[in-house]
Amino acid sequence: MASYEYEVHDYDVVVVGAGGAGLRATLGMAEQGLRTACVTKVFPTRSHTVAAQGGIAASLSNMGPDNWQWHMYDTVKGSDWLGDNDAMEYLVRHAPQAVYELEHYGVPFSRTEQGKIYQRPFGGHTTEFGEGPPVQRTCAAADRTGHAILHTLYGQSLKQKAEFYIEYFAIDLIMSEDGVCQGVVAWKLDDGTIHIFNAKMTVLATGGYGRAYFSATSAHTCTGDGGGMVARAGLALQDMEFVQFHPTGIYGSGCLITEGARGEGGYLTNSEGERFMERYAPTYKDLASRDVVSRCMTMEIREGRGVGSEGDHIHLNLSHIPAETLAERLPGISESAKIFAGVDVTKEPIPVLPTVHYNMGGIPTNYWGEVLNPTAENPDAVTPGLMAVGEAGCASVHGANRLGSNSLIDLVVFGRAAAIKAGQVVDREAGIAKPNQASIDKALGRFDGLRYAKGNISTAELRLDLQKTMQADAAVFRTDKTLAEGVKKVEAIAGKMDDISVSDRSLVWNSDLMETLELTNLMPNALATIVGAEARKESRGAHAHEDYPDRHDDEWRKHSIMRVHGSKVDLTYRPVHTDPLTSETDGGIELKRIAPKKRVY
Ligand code: FUM
Repeated sequence: MASYEYEVHDYDVVVVGAGGAGLRATLGMAEQGLRTACVTKVFPTRSHTVAAQGGIAASLSNMGPDNWQWHMYDTVKGSDWLGDNDAMEYLVRHAPQAVYELEHYGVPFSRTEQGKIYQRPFGGHTTEFGEGPPVQRTCAAADRTGHAILHTLYGQSLKQKAEFYIEYFAIDLIMSEDGVCQGVVAWKLDDGTIHIFNAKMTVLATGGYGRAYFSATSAHTCTGDGGGMVARAGLALQDMEFVQFHPTGIYGSGCLITEGARGEGGYLTNSEGERFMERYAPTYKDLASRDVVSRCMTMEIREGRGVGSEGDHIHLNLSHIPAETLAERLPGISESAKIFAGVDVTKEPIPVLPTVHYNMGGIPTNYWGEVLNPTAENPDAVTPGLMAVGEAGCASVHGANRLGSNSLIDLVVFGRAAAIKAGQVVDREAGIAKPNQASIDKALGRFDGLRYAKGNISTAELRLDLQKTMQADAAVFRTDKTLAEGVKKVEAIAGKMDDISVSDRSLVWNSDLMETLELTNLMPNALATIVGAEARKESRGAHAHEDYPDRHDDEWRKHSIMRVHGSKVDLTYRPVHTDPLTSETDGGIELKRIAPKKRVY
């Protein structure tokens, strides 16, 4: 192995990733005087949160009656009763405060006539515990809400003197012999130097792994880097079989068209011009939960009512919405539709197709963001020194299916919670432990092995094979047959990592090596997804199993826990937290409200 010199940096906290969750955690840590570094592979305002469009859910009641209990009910139902009720209560109760904090930090929200934060309807968000009309709960900055949040949080983090290490790629976690996380090993992309970030607390905020699929709304950078590092450290992933398809990715490019488009009155039609959602979800129609809408679109296409010369997509109609409203509320998607589909939304429908959008699963955490290392004796055991927030983590507030606009609120509520917890557990006065040299050497050995890989398959070739297999075999609808074949294929693909070839041996801007490191992260995420999906013999949320069309709470209301070893996955389960945070007598939600029942919209 080549020898690598490295620079050592000591911090109280190192946050890996600078999307909404990473920046909110960074800001919260720095505000409390913790010496905080944020290590990110892209410039912070280019993180994938920048692409979040429609908004951020919080029961502000600016547009009509709303409360946290209704938001909680919708989130529990949206999760198809797989989410942890304590975490879901934490999310919805802290949501309004987290949004007002964003407002005070400077997020330029759209406004009502009265100057309040504008809120729009989104799928699955209702009133009266699912019995009343849709609620306007999604706070929006036009259709560029993520962009507005990201820029604001970056500015505020700089103001608080958080230190940014930009275009540094985190290679692996540094773990002590007794399982404490001590920081990360990173590679500086623009000059090839290696860096050890030695910290009392490490926070993974690395986003999802949408790029394990061929067509995704996710940026190319969404390669599950946190999940990959965690899997290599022998830690667990959770509920990875639940992959969300957003109903309206632009046909062909997969670019996101926000659900806010339907919130503002847009609707879907089939080749007969029929508003088919009225048949499937008579009450909430196009504003049913997104897993439901994606499945209905897929059924329309399968039954021969798709649009286009190949009958393989659906139309999203916006042209009946006044042009001024489109310009004010949906300027971004109007532009995307023009660029990526050649469509003028004031005149023509947008061709759309369900597209991979979000990973409900991830690194298991409690609602403080502390990473869990579940054992049979203690399913809630905490891994010292390690947190995960945002899409990388799984608290689990989204369970088997996330409601639109519950992601941005998850980022800021749990980024903030992680900072509060770190403020309590990180001892500012203590010295920083010497990092485990064996763990650093192992990370550098892996890096070096990939840098000099001399196999027969290029990274691009193997990645494409993985993406096409996941797209075909872990799709909107799944069967025993497709999943069993998928497991075999993905295991075989993972086995080929040993035959990978990297042609560029340099250390400076070596995108070949970086993409190979990313592929080593995509791989355990994908394996855990397909193995978890094959094992789950029921349908729940985004996991629609055609051979087991019903949900089976007695057997399957439990979290899947995956540990990935090479190309094999060890699968166990841990119980769902069915108790909310506060009891009914302490002002909490009535338990009967959130008891499992049939999920209809
Ligand atoms: O449709 C959207 O604007 C996406 C929002 C979300 O995934 O939360």
